[in-house]
Amino acid sequence: MALQHLLGIQELSAEEILTLLDTARSFREILDRPIKKVPALRGITICNAFYESSTRTRLSFELAEKRLSADSVNFAVSGSSVSKGESLRDTIRNIEAMKVDIVVIRHWASGAAAYLARHLVARVINAGDGQHEHPTQALLDFYTIRERKGRIAGLKVAIVGDILHSRVARSNIWGLTRLGAEVCLVAPRTLLPEGIERMGVRVETDLASGLRDADVIYLLRLQLERQKGGFLPSLREYAMAYGLDRERARLAAADALIMHPGPMNRGVEIQQDVADGPQSVILEQVANGVAVRMAVLYLVSGGSPPEPVGMTPVIPAAHPAGR
Ligand code: CP
Repeated sequence: MALQHLLGIQELSAEEILTLLDTARSFREILDRPIKKVPALRGITICNAFYESSTRTRLSFELAEKRLSADSVNFAVSGSSVSKGESLRDTIRNIEAMKVDIVVIRHWASGAAAYLARHLVARVINAGDGQHEHPTQALLDFYTIRERKGRIAGLKVAIVGDILHSRVARSNIWGLTRLGAEVCLVAPRTLLPEGIERMGVRVETDLASGLRDADVIYLLRLQLERQKGGFLPSLREYAMAYGLDRERARLAAADALIMHPGPMNRGVEIQQDVADGPQSVILEQVANGVAVRMAVLYLVSGGSPPEPVGMTPVIPAAHPAGR
């Protein structure tokens, strides 16, 4: 499978998504060993460029790179020359000039990763761009569902919350529908993008109707920083209408998975006992994120699936990412 960049789930076929998940499974096994390191990306240099805050994505990319023996550097906007007015393109091209092979980019602007991919020789991985896509989050979500349920096709997945602002929702919708799941979006009308049904999903504004018989309840973070726009009367009312508590969770299948990309607003979209309860796989999602990001880095740098374990060198000399 040739994966030049990872810009979004939209451009991946079902087969490509499954190959990524199969590759991640091999890496997951490595992470359970006492020595969690392989030489697969030795000699490869990666820059993690984060223009927005992150805990899970940034740290799991950093860990994935260490586990693969890559050299990595981190770029954060604060303390950089961005404050002197340097553009995204100039900043990243300067970083690339220092012989960086792969750029992992998180940016507040939708399309930032695709824009960089057009201007760099380096490979680009989208770690979340504006309201557009967050492909590695969606891949770790698919991985977690598949490991727990044994399949994705035919499952009923309810995605609940701030769909309007959510790149996580968009990536999940592209992938889950392509893999054959039935996706139901549940949100107040003000948090649903116009015409979202055209993505092949069902839409409900009533939480109980959306949760009924779901195999997976995927809660989205209510993006509090964007709520000044009058999308909701108040957080309290949102929690009353859409917050997941134990009683509401019972409307779904008895073995439904409860998922959240983090960070959670406890007491708003999810109650404490549900977040920490037996059906929650939220920390499992985080753990799987490292293996999934190892798989993405491995395949983007020219590795061949599905045999990453043992790890032959992956970057041929002529490969654009193999300087
Ligand atoms: N899920 C997610 O992207 O979390 P971070 O913002 O902490 O990376």
